[in-house]
Parts: sequence; C-alpha cells; structure tokens
Amino acid sequence: FESTVPDELGDPAVHPAEIPEPGAVTIVVPTFNESANIRELLRRITDAVPARLPCEVVFVDDSTDDTPDVISRAAQDCPFPVTVLHRDEPVGGLGGAVVEGLKAATSDWIVVMDGDLQHPPSLVPELVARGERSGAGLVVASRYIEGGSRAGLAGGYRVAVSRGATWLTKSLFPRRLSGISDPMSGFFAIRRSVVTADVLQPLGYKILLELAVRSRPRQVTEVPFVFQDRYAGESKSTAQEGFRFLRHLVGLRTASPVARMIVFGLIGATGFVPNLLGLYALTAAGMHYVPAEILANQLGVAWNFLLIEHLLFRERRGHRHWWDRVGRFALLANADLVLRIPLIALFVDRFGMGALSATALALVTTFVLRFVGTEALIYLP
Ligand code: GDD
Ligand code: MN
Repeated sequence: FESTVPDELGDPAVHPAEIPEPGAVTIVVPTFNESANIRELLRRITDAVPARLPCEVVFVDDSTDDTPDVISRAAQDCPFPVTVLHRDEPVGGLGGAVVEGLKAATSDWIVVMDGDLQHPPSLVPELVARGERSGAGLVVASRYIEGGSRAGLAGGYRVAVSRGATWLTKSLFPRRLSGISDPMSGFFAIRRSVVTADVLQPLGYKILLELAVRSRPRQVTEVPFVFQDRYAGESKSTAQEGFRFLRHLVGLRTASPVARMIVFGLIGATGFVPNLLGLYALTAAGMHYVPAEILANQLGVAWNFLLIEHLLFRERRGHRHWWDRVGRFALLANADLVLRIPLIALFVDRFGMGALSATALALVTTFVLRFVGTEALIYLP
C-alpha cells in the first residue's frame, strides 16, 4: 500500500479552538467496487480534518474492480497516511470488513464511514470532539434526532423498511439501544479502548448494532447528520442482505441459553405448518393416517432442522458432517414423541396428576430435554 506521513501535526493556530484537545483518529472505510468515489472522498476528508487532529485512513476493500489501485494512486496526494487492506476471502461482508479495520486502527478514536459520500466527512472532527468532551465511548451520527434526516434514502419502500427494521431492533434490545435513535447508522465514532474485537461476530451491514450489543460502551451520545445522496455508483445492498440481517438479529439476541430456548421453541412451533400440510397431502393421496402422520412428522423435523441450522446455531455447526447433524436431530425429535406417553403415564400413576396437566408437564419436559440434548449432542456452545 501507499502511505504518506503528514509533515506537520497539531498547529492550533491553523484551526482555532473549534475542537478541544482532540485525540488522533483512524477513519475506517469499507469499500466494495467504489472506484468512482475514492478521490472525492479523500479530497473531502482532507478538507474536513484540521491539521491539529492527527488522522489516518484505512480502507478495507473487498472489491472485484480496480478500487485498490485507485486508492493507492489517490493516497499519494493526501497529507495523511492511507492504507488499503484488500481481503481475498471476504468474511462477514460489510461488518466483517469494518472489524478488520477496527483491528488495524492505531488511534484512540475510530470513525467508521461509507465510501460513497452518503456520510459527510465534514462531520468527522465533530464526532470525535463530541466524544472527547462528553467522555462517551461511542458517538453515533443519527438521522433520527433533531437536525438529522434521511434525505438520501430514496423511495417510500426503503424508508418503510428502514423504519420497520429500526423499530424491531430497538424492541429486541431495549436496554442496549436505549440511548441510540439510529442503531442502523453506518456512521459513528468509537474509542479504540471500547472495541472488544474478540467477541464480535459481524454479519452484513449492521456493524454499529453489533458493537452496541456486544462491546457494550458504557456511555453513548449522538450527533445529527443528513444522510446524503450517493456520489457515484449504486448501493451494494441486496434482498439477500435483508435475510442476513435477520440472521444477525437472531444471533445477537440468543447469546443467553434462555433466549436460545425461546427461539428454539418458536421455530419448533412453526414446524406444525409443514407437518399438517404433509399429513393433508398424504391422506388425500389415500395413505392410512398412521404412516402418514409418521412421514409428515419428518417433514416438520426437516423444516425445523433447516431453520435451526441457519438461524439459531449457524455459528456452532462444528466439525460434524451435515448428515450426522440431521441424524442426531431426527433421533432427538422422534425420541421426544416416544418418550411422551410413558412420561404422561408416570405423572398420572406415580404422582396422581390429572391427564391434562400430566400432558402439559410431559410436553414441557420433553421440550426442555430436546433443547438441552440439541445443544449438548449437536451444537456445542
Ligand atoms: N469491504 C466491503 N465489503 N465493503 C462493503 C461491502 C462488502 O461486502 N458491502 C458494502 N460495502 C461498502 C460500500 O462500498 C460502501 O462504501 C459502504 O459499504 C456502504 O454500502 P452501500 O451499499 O452504499 O450501503 P447503503 O447505502 O445501502 O447502506 C448504508 O446506509 C444504511 C442506512 O440506510 C450503510 O451505511 C448501512 O450500514 C446503513 O444501515
Ligand atoms: Mn450507500
């Protein structure tokens, strides 16, 4: 990579006291095929950052075009060091790229911003200054507080999706996100000392959410900003990114065993749909209802297995072959059915329970056993 070292740092006479004693800042920019935006971005960062705020820019690039070369060339005209980390095997998408940048950063403060100029570089010094002044560990640039707006979020559809996702996310993490009006923002400043890189498991676009939930900065503050139009090129977000976001939410929300068990139960409940559909189809085709029920049950098991693999335990598939996991999962699911009847008999005969409460207790017992078994025998924590 190319880098140039600034020949003069920290001359307060150049920029009068607009920022009280700033620390140094590393600006992390994830890029995916943004060659047409690089020059303008670096030019505006150069204009925005005063000489007394020591600054470096780290691009984390997953491009398939010539973006890294464009960055290296543009870097030669910059008064601060510019680094390109190109990833040959991109993991975690946008969020994974940002975490690489966080690890490579050397300054006290890290500002994360997009490479397409939807995030105004002029705000960088203010984000850092606000953090220094307030003592906060995280400063979020928000579209949803007084003075901010989402002008660059084109179309009613995208606005509605963004609002719905923000609402859902804030309801899932009421405590962690209590001081954050815009947890979906991709523009923020964070103290390097707050970042706990080893516990992060980024997946896709919402890296701020990941940091707020897993690194848990003690104090958070916000600065309003106007989300601009893209300077050049197109958004890299796809429908697949939406599904990734849901997986990310489930992963973040199921850090505790109780939360995992609840999601396990919810997924199990959805298994009734394929189960009943299968039963309907098989009996309609003339099959006796007993074998039909047994076969249809396997359909529900397969459905649950897919959801559990891809939503709940995606990080914990371990070294076993997928067919080994399917086998164990199916065994547990069917053992659950076989175990239920003797359990009910036990509760009724030995403990004198009524049939209804015995059935309810047996359902809960086999459910908990099945969850514990699934964690212990298939997806080790
Ligand atoms: N390295 C890397 N790898 N960079 C990526 C990847 C990736 O897989 N995907 C996207 N980027 C880069 C883009 O090149 C751009 O610099 C930045 O991440 C944002 O990508 P966009 O595709 O422009 O995102 P957006 O405008 O749709 O979404 C932005 O605004 C949202 C709020 O509406 C992002 O900041 C989101 O995080 C934010 O929620
Ligand atoms: Mn963008």
